[in-house]
Amino acid sequence: MTLNFDRHPNANPRSAQERSAILANPGFGTNFTDHMAVATWTLADGWHDAAVLPYGPFQLDPAAAILHYAQGVFEGLKAYRHDDGSIWLFRPDANAARFRRSAIRLGLPELPDEDFMGSIEALVRADHAWVPEAGGGEASLYLRPFMFASEAFLGVRASHRVTYSLIASPAGAYFASGVKPVSIWITTKWSRAGAGGTGAAKCGGNYASSLIAQKEAADQGCAQVLFADAGSHQFVEELGGMNVWFVSGNQLVTPALTGSILEGVTRASILTLAAERGLEPVERQIELSELLGGIADGSISEVFACGTAAVITPIGAFKDEGGREYVVADGDVGHHTAGLRASLLDIQYGRATDEHGWMTKVR
Ligand SMILES: Cc1ncc(COP(=O)(O)O)c(C=O)c1O
Repeated sequence: MTLNFDRHPNANPRSAQERSAILANPGFGTNFTDHMAVATWTLADGWHDAAVLPYGPFQLDPAAAILHYAQGVFEGLKAYRHDDGSIWLFRPDANAARFRRSAIRLGLPELPDEDFMGSIEALVRADHAWVPEAGGGEASLYLRPFMFASEAFLGVRASHRVTYSLIASPAGAYFASGVKPVSIWITTKWSRAGAGGTGAAKCGGNYASSLIAQKEAADQGCAQVLFADAGSHQFVEELGGMNVWFVSGNQLVTPALTGSILEGVTRASILTLAAERGLEPVERQIELSELLGGIADGSISEVFACGTAAVITPIGAFKDEGGREYVVADGDVGHHTAGLRASLLDIQYGRATDEHGWMTKVR
């Protein structure tokens, strides 16, 4: 049975002036809209009690399983405002499917795709005024669906009570002052996820385990970490929060999905768009030495990362634990990097024809 996310309006929403002030400078992940969607699952009754409620804290029992065993998963996607004022989602079906796959891996119940979509439509409609104007920029409403074990029980088993929720946060352009290549820290000491682990699921533990390396990266002046496989530490996997690519000749190469890499929606879209740019998309194992050697001898002309938050981020250099630095080409934004970035943004903001049927109108 499909859930009905009935709206219980916030009696004290932010004023139009307060909202405008936030939307003028939204940052990322610090401001939230006036409402949130919720639903509950129990072993006895399945999914029920869906609603759009005023945004506010959860009441959690201190024994709630999420706080102890981290049984929780999440998603991340955006709502984009087109020039005519309409509001659209980019491939939300892919996020819904990944949310179900993540839930299965973490022993959580699957939220049916129509309920995932229903919650997003209900919340975006309730808080449509929070979707920033496109205005030629890259502002959007970031949507964060998540699910966690809310049963008060200290035994290690799948929770018999689960809470689903969706919150929304206006987001400004990731590169507020123009797209600039970033430096990436390569760690072979710390791993994000191992074979048979949860790397392909979007769960908090993967991010928690990445933070120690992320701190090292920040200490080295780097924006993010490139993780290698946890077994041999020889193969390129992904960044802490983005998939990675390089251009070599006319090939656009990304690590194959091994089970420890998150299958990015942006990654999947680039695999499709590459061919349209005359590039051959290749998914395969990549040795770290191949990546760094190719950068050093110039056979790798561009390197970039991709994900919902920043779309495509050019990588200008890598630093490693031996104190070496590898500068990609001239350290500038590559031709294909810029072209793919523009293609994705043009589709998302309705400036290009949506030939692949990737966009879904919400309002
Ligand atoms: C670990 C990781 N890899 C890759 C991605 C990119 O995925 P997507 O393109 O679906 O945002 C993300 C971001 O969600 C991520 O957290």
